[in-house]
Amino acid sequence: MAGTPPPQIVRTRAELRAALSAAARPVGLVPTMGALHDGHISLIRRARAENATVVISIFVNPRQFNEAADFEKYPRDEAADVRLVGGAGADLVFAPTVEEIYPAGFQTTVRVGALTESLEGAARPGHFEGVTTVVAILLGLSGAERAYFGQKDAQQLLVVRRMAADLGIATEIVACPIVREPDGLALSSRNVLLSPEARAAAPVLHRALMAARAAYDAGERDGEALRAAMRATLAAEPLGTPEYVSCADPATLVELNRIGGPALLSMAVRFGRVRLIDNEPLP
Ligand code: PAF
Repeated sequence: MAGTPPPQIVRTRAELRAALSAAARPVGLVPTMGALHDGHISLIRRARAENATVVISIFVNPRQFNEAADFEKYPRDEAADVRLVGGAGADLVFAPTVEEIYPAGFQTTVRVGALTESLEGAARPGHFEGVTTVVAILLGLSGAERAYFGQKDAQQLLVVRRMAADLGIATEIVACPIVREPDGLALSSRNVLLSPEARAAAPVLHRALMAARAAYDAGERDGEALRAAMRATLAAEPLGTPEYVSCADPATLVELNRIGGPALLSMAVRFGRVRLIDNEPLP
C-alpha cells in the first residue's frame, strides 16, 4: 500500500523480545505458516483494528506435518508475504529458522488430550502436538494480549483455546470467520497446489456443507442424516476422496446422534496429494 512503511522483520527469539519490549500495548499476534491469502489478511486487519502493535509470525512448522512430502511442498514466498503483511498494516514480522524455534537440546512438547484425538487428530497423528508446542512458544515469546486464528481450522482453534486455559496463558484467543472464494471454496494456502481440474472440483466441500445445512434448516436433527447428506454430495465428485465427514458437538467434537443445540459440521477431502478441510457451525 503506498505510503505504508514496510514492517520490521526479526528472525531470532532475542530480536523479537527486544522489538516488543518497547512496543505500544496491547500486542496482537497473528501466527501463520506464510503463503498468505485473504483469509490471513482478514486476521491481520482484525488485529490491526484491536491492538496498538501487530506482529505476524511466519514459520512453516515441521513438527505439525505428519507427512514429509506435505512439509516439503508447502508453498513458501517470504517476499510476497512481507509485502502483503505491510499492506495490511502489520508492524513486525517474526520469521525464524527451524533451529531458532527448536534449538539443539529442545525437548518440550505441549499435548492437549481428548480434543486432539478425533477428526484432524485421528487423520494426522502428531499434528496437534506440533501446533500446540509452536503456538505455546509464540505466545510465550510475544507475550501478546490477543492472538488471532481462523475458524477454518475449527479443531485447531478449540485445541489452542483449551491449551491456553489449561496452562494459564493470559492471551485472548480470537476466532475469525472463514473467507471464501466466490464459488464457495474456503481460502487455504494449499489451494495453489490443486490441479486445475481439482480446483474446479474443490467447491464440492462447501456444497456438501450447504446440503447438510439445508437439511438442518428444514428441520432435520438426526446427526447421521446430516453426515449422509454431506457424503452424498461428496460422492458425486469423483476427483475428491473424503477422509471424514462429521456432525459433532462443537465443544467436545464428539459425534452427535441427535442435535439438541449447536453443532459443528466438518470434513476433510483429498484431491490427489492435496488435502482440504472445511466446516460450518450450526446455531
Ligand atoms: O494455522 C496455522 O497456520 C498453523 O497451524 C499455526 C497456528 C500458525 C501454527 O503453526
